Amino acid sequence: MNFYEQLMDEHRLIEHMVHLIDEQVKMIEEKNEINLAVIDLITDFLKTYASSCHERKEEAILFKKLEEKDIPDSYRETIKVLKADHEFARETVVKIISEREDYIAGSKESLMEIINQLRALVKLYPKHIKKEEDEFYKQAVDYLTSNEESGMIDDFNKLDQELIHKKYQQVVERLENS
Ligand SMILES: [Fe+2]
Ligand SMILES: [Fe+2]
Repeated sequence: MNFYEQLMDEHRLIEHMVHLIDEQVKMIEEKNEINLAVIDLITDFLKTYASSCHERKEEAILFKKLEEKDIPDSYRETIKVLKADHEFARETVVKIISEREDYIAGSKESLMEIINQLRALVKLYPKHIKKEEDEFYKQAVDYLTSNEESGMIDDFNKLDQELIHKKYQQVVERLENS
């Protein structure tokens, strides 16, 4: 498998979740209440899978490698835009988690805030994924040697392996401190 095919496979799962988030927004509006367990599943997916697994592969491995190269300014600019999208997604998830706490504490505005933040992600991800798949990944191949491409797949796999241990280490620590 090519390195970008792996990233594109991950996009398909993110897209599936984005579709479910969209459905969830409609459900919240209909019932005028938040399903906390569903919000927890969504934020865990976005934090662990979209951010720490997928976007970290892009930022810490792919973008990093490309930034070391003699790439055109316009391409370097695209990397900045993609990183800013990732940052926006991370900040949005932090806001949802904080609004969730306020919702539990009885804040009336939190329901609307959660809807707005979820909508922002539903809007962001399809555009972001299209940008990466239509232009960015394919152009990346021009700047990488085949050795670098296969090395990148090894680095992706290593990141996946480490992530599962880190994730459950954190679960144990959280439970211990709760
Ligand atoms: Fe990305
Ligand atoms: Fe991506």
